[in-house]
Amino acid sequence: MALYALGDLHLSFQAHKPMDAFGRVWKHHERKIETYVNKVVKPEDTLVLTGDHSWGRRLEECREDLAFIEGLPGRKILLRGNHDMFWDAKKTEALNREFQGCLFFLQNNFAVYQDYALVGTKGYTFEGPFYLDPWGRIAGWDEEREKHAQKLVERELGRLRESFRQAEAAGFRKFVMFLHYPPTNVLEEESPFTRMAEEYGAEAVIYSHCHGESRFGDSIRGVFHGIRYQLVSGDYLNFRPAQVLP
Ligand SMILES: [Fe+2]
Repeated sequence: MALYALGDLHLSFQAHKPMDAFGRVWKHHERKIETYVNKVVKPEDTLVLTGDHSWGRRLEECREDLAFIEGLPGRKILLRGNHDMFWDAKKTEALNREFQGCLFFLQNNFAVYQDYALVGTKGYTFEGPFYLDPWGRIAGWDEEREKHAQKLVERELGRLRESFRQAEAAGFRKFVMFLHYPPTNVLEEESPFTRMAEEYGAEAVIYSHCHGESRFGDSIRGVFHGIRYQLVSGDYLNFRPAQVLP
């Protein structure tokens, strides 16, 4: 039995948005996902998909994408990404009722893997725009947008705390924390998300959202303050799920 993660599938079986324009790694990426997930994940395993599942805007436009995910091996747990328009946070319970036994939507709740609670939320990081000086160094940023970003961060922190709170109330003391957005932006060494992971003693923080070579290093990878940070963006992994726990 093992726990795997993979993010940013960006499927579009109905919305028809080919991803090839984003580089060679995206060419027929849905076939790669199918091949690698089937190779790596066994039926008894758990696979957490860390958001940006579908380009469809409404649930009806995502049916084929979700059916594709359902068809992958293992127990599938889904996190919200910034592009998952079909998934209004308030509709999580309804989605969990509809897809009961097939898919689990992780939002304001938690999932269990052995003696671990899997907690998570979309998260948020301020991504600029940043203003550069003539040497390419960041000299400033859009302060209005930063203010708005702080509001979104607060909301996501509340959702994450609720996930931890429920898991703790159910008696769990071991946690793996999932985010769609990276836990820090390019300017930060730590953030309210890394501090919450430390507060609850999470063993690992798993995130995605960063696409393309130039963005893979935007946030923490490796061990920071005793917690393992793992980037699982699809294109970073060439769509091969990464193992999180044995
Ligand atoms: Fe994203």
